[in-house]
Amino acid sequence: MKTVEIKLGERTYPIYIGVSLTRIGDYLRERKFFGKVLIITNTTVAKLYGDMVFDSISRAGFEVSITKIPDGEKYKTLETANSLYQVCMEKKLERNSLIVALGGGVVGDTAGFVAATFMRGIPFVQVPTTLLSQVDSSVGGKVGVNHPKSKNMIGSFYQPVMVYIDISTLKTLPEREFNAGLAEAIKYGIIRDKRHFSVLERDLMKIKSLHLERTEYTVWRSCQIKKWVVELDEKESGLRAILNFGHTIGHAIESATNYKTYLHGEAISIGMVCAAKISKELNLLNDMWVRRIEKILVRSGLPVKHNLKVDKIIKNLIFDKKVLDGKVRFVLTNGRPGRTVIRDDVPEEVIKKVLEGQKEGTE
Ligand SMILES: NC(=O)c1ccc[n+]([C@@H]2O[C@H](COP(=O)([O-])OP(=O)(O)OC[C@H]3O[C@@H](n4cnc5c(N)ncnc54)[C@H](O)[C@@H]3O)[C@@H](O)[C@H]2O)c1
Ligand SMILES: [Zn+2]
Repeated sequence: MKTVEIKLGERTYPIYIGVSLTRIGDYLRERKFFGKVLIITNTTVAKLYGDMVFDSISRAGFEVSITKIPDGEKYKTLETANSLYQVCMEKKLERNSLIVALGGGVVGDTAGFVAATFMRGIPFVQVPTTLLSQVDSSVGGKVGVNHPKSKNMIGSFYQPVMVYIDISTLKTLPEREFNAGLAEAIKYGIIRDKRHFSVLERDLMKIKSLHLERTEYTVWRSCQIKKWVVELDEKESGLRAILNFGHTIGHAIESATNYKTYLHGEAISIGMVCAAKISKELNLLNDMWVRRIEKILVRSGLPVKHNLKVDKIIKNLIFDKKVLDGKVRFVLTNGRPGRTVIRDDVPEEVIKKVLEGQKEGTE
């Protein structure tokens, strides 16, 4: 078992990595929680882990109930949040009640948003069950839902009181979802830690076959890097933007395809290769590093090429909400993994050239 502590003054909380869902009730007790508990999960995860978590919390003496939302990004909405407020009221949750978000990023973001807003905020625990949510979305306190016109448009910064990660839940995760999570883990290596990147290159196949110790290490190291960023810039006023490496083009690809063709991690994989190649075009990165970045993503089973019209991607770049003053901001690699630079002066021809080069069917 490994622990990472996110130190944010009175909002400080631990991330437990490599713990078992069957013991979550004891952890809640040890951390002196009391009051009612509402587990929010989805229909898929409930079948796999709902009883396990319910029984553990119940055995520890809590008054606990469980509610399910439908599975899918399209349910990350205010309507779902509203139906959850309804449940919170029916169960008579109070200010000291606890919400436990059991599932991937969709459940975590939605349940976290409900916790942030119900009675102006009640405590919540993240129990992420996808690789993406374990290395990324459960840590850092971004919670929210989608607006029909824009993803993640309604939300808040609201930190959980604990993150509880059972690596063995990944055994039931579909491979495609697992690979998508790997993309974010690889991203941490590229933005912050050359050694983490090399370790991932070395251990990739072990991680993909769910070697528990190596997977636990990967989640732990990813959480440590996210910790470093979040502690310095909780509300994304500066440094936290480096977490968007690969996301400028990744988001444009996601919205150009109406979020239907690629999983987030897959779009980000293409985006990271593009960011590496843009870095090269601007003489920031050499060919060896570009090839290594591309290779680890391919070995992960992730796409690095797209099948879209380049103009369509470019059009969507401009609508990204991370655009400042009409300029498109790119997180780029400066020299080698571990060194990043943010640039808003990348010439459109360079973006186009790189996107053309990443079209399927081109060498
Ligand atoms: N808050 C943040 O900082 C942040 C960061 C990155 C992404 N996100 C958000 O996270 C969401 C994506 O999260 P995700 O990739 O976890 O997707 P997801 O929550 O949709 O989960 C993916 C699929 O896996 C299923 N699943 C979950 N755990 C499982 C398990 N252990 N075994 C079998 N199936 C399982 C889910 O039911 C779902 O069908 C997006 O909405 C994105 O905006 C938030
Ligand atoms: Zn991401």
